Amino acid sequence: GREALARRVDDLLRTVPDFPSPGIQFRDIMPLLADAAAFAEVVAHLAQAARDEHGGIDLVAGMEARGFLLAAPVATTLGAGLVPVRKSGKLPGPVEQVSYALEYGEASVEVQPFTIRPGARVLVIDDVLATGGTAAATVDLLERCGAQVVGLSFLVELSALDGRSLLDGRSVDALLALG
Ligand code: PRP
Repeated sequence: GREALARRVDDLLRTVPDFPSPGIQFRDIMPLLADAAAFAEVVAHLAQAARDEHGGIDLVAGMEARGFLLAAPVATTLGAGLVPVRKSGKLPGPVEQVSYALEYGEASVEVQPFTIRPGARVLVIDDVLATGGTAAATVDLLERCGAQVVGLSFLVELSALDGRSLLDGRSVDALLALG
């Protein structure tokens, strides 16, 4: 069940102190991806939970780079297409772009709007919900392209950072909550 899978994910995550910079506790999902059974179960869970919660999904949007690793297999499992949400400057245009504030400076995310049919039902998938900045910018970006964002699903949420507050009113799911 869900609880057992969440514990499995918790066991397989590596927590790396002071990476990529001092004071940051990095949650490393690579050991989970390297475990064939756990990876398959996580993908199956994310797909089934989305199906149960939202019904039909046309597109799964995943955020560069680790979000791609989950969004692509979830998309094929659901019979949906994939929309890679990229950091700026990586996609050939035309692109739609949204900028958002980081602790120091700003970042932007981009998609190719011509890959999104108006009204398309889109599920957003990423590995980690931290401050919520990336996810909130992604929702904004997809909606500017005419998508209907039906929900967001994360492997892990870092509850202390309260990313959910930037996603107020959205359907947000996370398999595992860490402090
Ligand atoms: C991480 C993570 C999310 C984002 C969450 O990506 O995969 O996309 O940060 O942070 P936020 O909620 O504070 O916006 P990162 O920028 O490290 O990129 P990567 O996946 O390319 O390593």
